[in-house]
Amino acid sequence: MTEERPIVTPWQVTGRVDYEKLIEQFGTEPITGELLGRIERAAGELHLQLRRGVFFSHRDLGWILDVHERGVKFGLYTGRGPSGPTTIGHMVPWIFTKYLQDKFDAKLYFQLTDDEKSLWPPPGMSLEETRFWTRENALDIVATGFKRGKTLLVADTLCARTLYGMAVEVAKHVTYSTVKAIFGFEDSANIGIIFFPAMQAVPAFLESRLVGKNVPCLIPAAIDQDPYWRMARDIAPKLGFFKPAQIHSKFLPGLLAGGKMSASIPESAIFTTDGEVAAKRKIVNAFTGGRATVEEQRRLGGDPEICPIFQYELFLFEPDDAKLEDTKRRCLGGELLCGEHKEALAGKVAAFLRSHQERREEAKEVLDEFLVKDEYFSK
Ligand code: TYM
Repeated sequence: MTEERPIVTPWQVTGRVDYEKLIEQFGTEPITGELLGRIERAAGELHLQLRRGVFFSHRDLGWILDVHERGVKFGLYTGRGPSGPTTIGHMVPWIFTKYLQDKFDAKLYFQLTDDEKSLWPPPGMSLEETRFWTRENALDIVATGFKRGKTLLVADTLCARTLYGMAVEVAKHVTYSTVKAIFGFEDSANIGIIFFPAMQAVPAFLESRLVGKNVPCLIPAAIDQDPYWRMARDIAPKLGFFKPAQIHSKFLPGLLAGGKMSASIPESAIFTTDGEVAAKRKIVNAFTGGRATVEEQRRLGGDPEICPIFQYELFLFEPDDAKLEDTKRRCLGGELLCGEHKEALAGKVAAFLRSHQERREEAKEVLDEFLVKDEYFSK
C-alpha cells in the first residue's frame, strides 16, 4: 500500500504529517531545549503541550522572550474561522493561549473570520450563517477562560471599519503572484478569498496602531495557519510594524484514520457541545493503534504514536506525565486493550465536556463584553 502524501494548508490537512519535514518545508524553527528552559524560567512552569512537543515549531520566539526579559509587554493573537461547532481540536491552541495569557498577563486579540468562511471553501456559507457560528464559537472561546478586559473578540464584519482600512494598507504590498504562490489559489478562486489574507494579517498590528507604538505580537495556532504569517511577516516592515512571531502546534488527530480532527467530518470530531452519549459513541467507534485481535494485541502491543485515543490523552486529557508514560508502556506491552483505554478516555472527555458546557452557559451572560465593535478602536 502506498502512503498518502500529507497535505497541510489552512483549509486542508490530510495524511500522516511528518512535522520535522514540515519545519523544513515551511522554513520555521524547531522549539529547542534551550528555548523551553527560557519559557520555563519566564513563565514559572512549562505547559504540558510544551513538555510533550505538541507545540513544536516557531518563528522569532527567542525574540519574544528577549523582549519579555527586557520588561517589554508583548501581545497575543489567535483566531477561529466560524463555519460550524467548535471541536476539541480547535481548543488545543486556545488552551495553550490561555496559559500564555495567564503567565505573561498579555492582552489577546481573538479574530473571528466570518468573512473568510463565507468566501471559502466554495460555495461558502451565507454571512448570516457565519455570524451565527461566530456567536456560538465565541461562547467556547469565553468558556476557555480568557481574561475579561484583556481579551478582545474581533469579528471581521463587526469591526469592518477598523479592519478593512488596515487590510487595504496590507493588500497594497501583496501581489497576486505572491498569494498564489503562498496559498495555491487557482484562477477559479473568487476575488474575496484572494484579498482575505490581508484581513487575517491585520490583528497582528492592531494593538500597535491602537496605542501608537510598536507592540511585539506572538501568534499561537496550529501550523496550518503558517502561510498567513509568511505573508504578514513579509509586509510588516513595509508598514513600519514588527514582524509577528509564531508558535505552532501539531494537529489533534481525527477519530477516523488519518488527517486532523475536522468539524466538516462530524464522526472524526468531538464537539464541545456534544452530549456524553454522543462523545462516547464516537470514541468507541474510533480508529486506534491497536491490533486486529486481542491475542495479537497482547503479543505485539499497540502503536500509541498513531492512536487518536492515546494522542488525546497526550494533547489534552492526562495532566500527569508519569501516568501518561505508564499508559504508553502498557499499550506498547499489550497490557492495555483498546476497549479499556477507550472507556477510560470517554470518562475524562465526559468530565471535560460537562465543565466546559457549564462555563459555556455562563459565557452567554458576558459574551457582549468580549465581542468588540468598531467603536472600541475609535475611542
Ligand atoms: P480554524 O477555525 O480552522 O481553526 C481555529 C484554530 O484551531 C487550530 N486547529 C487545530 N489545532 C489542533 N488540532 C486540530 N485538529 C486543529 N484544527 C484547527 C487552527 O490552527 C487555529 O489555530 N483562518 C483561521 C482563523 C484565524 C486564525 C487567526 C487562526 C484568523 N486569525 C490567527 C489562528 C491565528 C481559521 O479558519 O481557523
